[in-house]
Amino acid sequence: MNTERKYNEYYEGEGLAFGEAPSPELSLLLKRKPHRGKALDLGAGDGRNSLYLAQLGFLVTAVDVSEVGLDKLKRAARKRKVEDRIETLEADVRKLSLPRKEFDLIVAETVFDHIPAEEIESLFQRTAGWLRRSGSVYIKVHTVDDPGNNDDKRVASELAPMVKYYFKRNELLSMVLDRLHITWYSEQGETDTTHGETHQHVFAKIWAQDEPLLNEESGSGAGKTT
Ligand SMILES: C[S@@+](CC[C@H](N)C(=O)[O-])C[C@H]1O[C@@H](n2cnc3c(N)ncnc32)[C@H](O)[C@@H]1O
Repeated sequence: MNTERKYNEYYEGEGLAFGEAPSPELSLLLKRKPHRGKALDLGAGDGRNSLYLAQLGFLVTAVDVSEVGLDKLKRAARKRKVEDRIETLEADVRKLSLPRKEFDLIVAETVFDHIPAEEIESLFQRTAGWLRRSGSVYIKVHTVDDPGNNDDKRVASELAPMVKYYFKRNELLSMVLDRLHITWYSEQGETDTTHGETHQHVFAKIWAQDEPLLNEESGSGAGKTT
């Protein structure tokens, strides 16, 4: 079954498919270092992260191949009264063309692993290009240690067949390393109760920033002495 059809069916259910709350790491990282401006949510689904970002005040562009997911996102946005801060774009991220240096924050939660291996690097280079100076990106992917990769049906997610590529250990880190400053990286196992039967995952997650690392508004640019 193709990705679009499968996720369209998946998003038919009641409530947001992956829970009403945003990804815990995303909200934690944004609390630690608040951002504002324009956000891009790649593979937004039915929008738990887009909705959260809009509620924080971001102007959000939510991209997904699933029309049903995006419709649900729009309904939820109206309910939360943030519809004027979310634009939805039904598109394949592999063919997405957006202006360079447009976004202050880009979120890509389990979408880089939903495309074929040979297209990942190109998507990452374009994603980095869409970031504004000192903008940040949050990427989360399944790794080879995930039970879905090991066909362990007892503890794997029901959505495991949708994952097209499991990142090798430290592969996400290596991909981002040459292009952006990494401010946080994690690879670990976790129990997921947000959808389906309780199951387990091993994810790699990264938070990285385009230059500069110092906040330009603080007047403490690199090289400045006091
Ligand atoms: C596991 S879901 C994650 C949804 C959302 N990021 C979240 O964390 O709630 C993966 C999403 O990626 C979307 N997706 C998969 N391949 C895609 C592609 N090539 N272009 C755009 N979206 C895609 C699916 O439709 C699905 O909504």
